[in-house]
Amino acid sequence: MGHNIQPLLNKEYLKAISAQGIYIKDENGKQYLDGSSGAVTCSLGHSHPAIVELIRQQAGKLQFVYRSQFGSVEAEQLATKLFALSPQNAYRHTFFVNSGTEAIETAMKTALQHWLERNQPNKIQFISRWKSYHGITMGALSLSGHPLRRQRFETTLQKYPVLKSDLEKDSIEVHERELREVIDRMGADTIAAFVAEPIVGAAGTALTPPADYYRRIKAVCKENDILFIADEVMSGLGRTGKWFGLEHWHETADIVAVGKSLGAGYAPIAATLMTDEVLEPIKKGTGLIMSGHTYSGHPLSCATALRVLEIVEEEKLLNNVVAQGDYLKANLQALQRRFPVIHTVRGKGLMLGVEFDPAQKGHQAKLIDRCFQNGLLVYPSVGGPEGKDENGILIAPPFIITRTECDILLERLVKSLDEC
Ligand SMILES: Cc1ncc(COP(=O)(O)O)c(C=O)c1O
Repeated sequence: MGHNIQPLLNKEYLKAISAQGIYIKDENGKQYLDGSSGAVTCSLGHSHPAIVELIRQQAGKLQFVYRSQFGSVEAEQLATKLFALSPQNAYRHTFFVNSGTEAIETAMKTALQHWLERNQPNKIQFISRWKSYHGITMGALSLSGHPLRRQRFETTLQKYPVLKSDLEKDSIEVHERELREVIDRMGADTIAAFVAEPIVGAAGTALTPPADYYRRIKAVCKENDILFIADEVMSGLGRTGKWFGLEHWHETADIVAVGKSLGAGYAPIAATLMTDEVLEPIKKGTGLIMSGHTYSGHPLSCATALRVLEIVEEEKLLNNVVAQGDYLKANLQALQRRFPVIHTVRGKGLMLGVEFDPAQKGHQAKLIDRCFQNGLLVYPSVGGPEGKDENGILIAPPFIITRTECDILLERLVKSLDEC
């Protein structure tokens, strides 16, 4: 082991040397097709020339200012862009952070502060869904039902109420009843917000709620003065073929966390977006939002992210996400008929989940390893009734993937499935 700590302390990780388009090259010169955009992040692929050029120019112009000393044109422009992209111009205000986890922490703190400034200091609880992953710090992990990531810290995490009904099997009435029961039990005057991933990523293998889900759940929240926080860290900014995953349900949230596809791997940046209604009481009250990090609103990161979003628009990549996503999904569904180990294929756009027969223990790890050997990167996810089964993968290549590259991805996947 060298000095750099990586997740598995006793594993020797190969070093990546360079990356171009949808391929990453290791120290031995072997090429890997990035079928997961890293951690569902590199939406524009690697070394996009326009981004490389922008970074070069911006680094020589303004790379850092401290947020309590200066604002920057770069941060303002990116916030304006996110406002313009938000459905019905819902998300007027943006707070920049450096990771998806921090965006969720900021969302939680903003919700708490919102109620505090409205003179409701008892609204301190959060309701989340058990099958969810919202981040790795104590607050965000407390909301998350990802057993693998929680197990070492269970005793230290906050005990927030969770919803456990099945997003695929249970009716909308069951979901609504469960939420109402939790609210009745806890008391609406103790609950700050309901937090959910529009489409569940690592903790649910692209689990997708039914058509009317968010309208009904949001109505219950509104009725009870509970804010709705959408965790769009994975599903947001184009990954599902729309700018925001919630648009598939024609809905908006009160607060939204975005990350991953915002910096697209070119800059460590994430953001918490919010409506006027959420921010206004804080603005009129103490006038201070108590969150933030040294690198919040980093001009180099903001300029990079703005260019990322512009390129998604200029290259009409949302259309490509839908076209290649539909193609991949149809092919994965065809593979389901050929390989009985594949239980379920689901997802939207280029956020696709493949869940395996839970009885086939160890299949996920074996397949991911075979894929790696065959030059294909896929992302592990969990599934099963308790969200404990390590039997899923996410297929989430960059938005720029071509039809030919989809075929190479599928070929490598089939070879790997054959070898398992
Ligand atoms: C839905 C969701 N929320 C939050 C996070 C945390 O983001 P980060 O790893 O950037 O802290 C992730 C990361 O995978 C995620 O998928």
